[in-house]
Amino acid sequence: MLADKRILLIIGGGIAAYKALDLIRRLRDQGASVTPVLTRAGEAFVTPLSVSALAAHKVYRDLFDLTDEAEMGHIELSRAADLIVVAPATADLMGKMAAGLAGDLATTLLLATDKRVLIAPSMNVRMWDHPATRRNLARLLADGILVVGPNEGPMACGEFGPGRMAEVPEIVAAIGAALGNGPLKGRHVLVTSGPTHEPIDPVRYIANRSSGAQGTALAAALRDLGARVSFITGPALVPPPAGVAVIAVETALEMADAVAAALPADAAVFAAAVADWRVANPAAQKMKKDGTGAPPSLDFAENPDILARVAQMGAGRPRLVVGFAAETETVVAHATAKRARKGCDWIVANDVSPETGIMGGAENAVTLMTAQGAESWPRLPKVEVARRLALRIAEALA
Ligand code: C5P
Repeated sequence: MLADKRILLIIGGGIAAYKALDLIRRLRDQGASVTPVLTRAGEAFVTPLSVSALAAHKVYRDLFDLTDEAEMGHIELSRAADLIVVAPATADLMGKMAAGLAGDLATTLLLATDKRVLIAPSMNVRMWDHPATRRNLARLLADGILVVGPNEGPMACGEFGPGRMAEVPEIVAAIGAALGNGPLKGRHVLVTSGPTHEPIDPVRYIANRSSGAQGTALAAALRDLGARVSFITGPALVPPPAGVAVIAVETALEMADAVAAALPADAAVFAAAVADWRVANPAAQKMKKDGTGAPPSLDFAENPDILARVAQMGAGRPRLVVGFAAETETVVAHATAKRARKGCDWIVANDVSPETGIMGGAENAVTLMTAQGAESWPRLPKVEVARRLALRIAEALA
């Protein structure tokens, strides 16, 4: 899968550095060559000898190693690779990357490269949750850095929470995806996103506060795993991602038609906030005050439930149908009922009460409801929620 790919692997100074040794083996098993770089802190956790023996390659350690500069300068070293992987990516390394510092070999390579960079963060849960790390992560994501993990679980320091480095198979999958060889290669995935606008008259409409951020991030994450994505979007605040087929719609009825036209698909994810009701007979002309002071009355008609329709369509149904449930109370109970009512495979439930700041915000805290039960994820950037969900979709379609 990774035949002839050249990976520059930067091993940072964290307890998860031992997993980098296994990562080197797995990458070489798949045909990749690994050029290892060990930071000074990394050397406290794994020895240069183990790293170079497993990589069957010289290990680079010091920016001012003149022999290395004579053999291969740091600029060339950073560009000879197809992909740069940082595992484990410590809070310190992430901070330096976000700030553009270049005080040692690893950070100089990261600043000098013209290749994509994938990081596998690993740190104590408090460090991961610290506002400084949140800021640095947001900066790195905005800079186009790819991130895999961290996972939630027991940590070497005895605490529990997000911060464990992603497992080696997950990192290998993310590397394959970053190199355009993703697990969703050859799959067609349909994503609905954004709000719908339901016209009242030619100038007024009924809408909702969906920004389209989560659906957009999801479409990008599915694309990054190699899927062909049909992205059916209402009038969203965020622009659609590059590299997907964008079908822009306005109303729920248009969205339903666009979804039907985009099928068949291997998976369909309904992240749109579709209006349940439309104005039955929108006025052809702008509605005017009639002078009596009496408010106008609107008649409503129910919109088709696009998710339920696709989930229950029988022949031609996508293998995996995923709905979203935005709730403001008793999230899990409502989502469980919704999953059964709609007939979809998974529901991604989240609490959109105003105090959570989730609707229109950059982060999301979701519970994934599957046939196996409810799985609560930590509060994460929407981009990271999207990546995790895309990986789960890839596993389900494998
Ligand atoms: O019933 P509710 O609107 O809470 O369900 C939310 C889920 O159903 C979302 O996945 C949404 O995209 C989908 N939906 C739909 N068509 C509708 C209403 C909701 O596809 N008319």
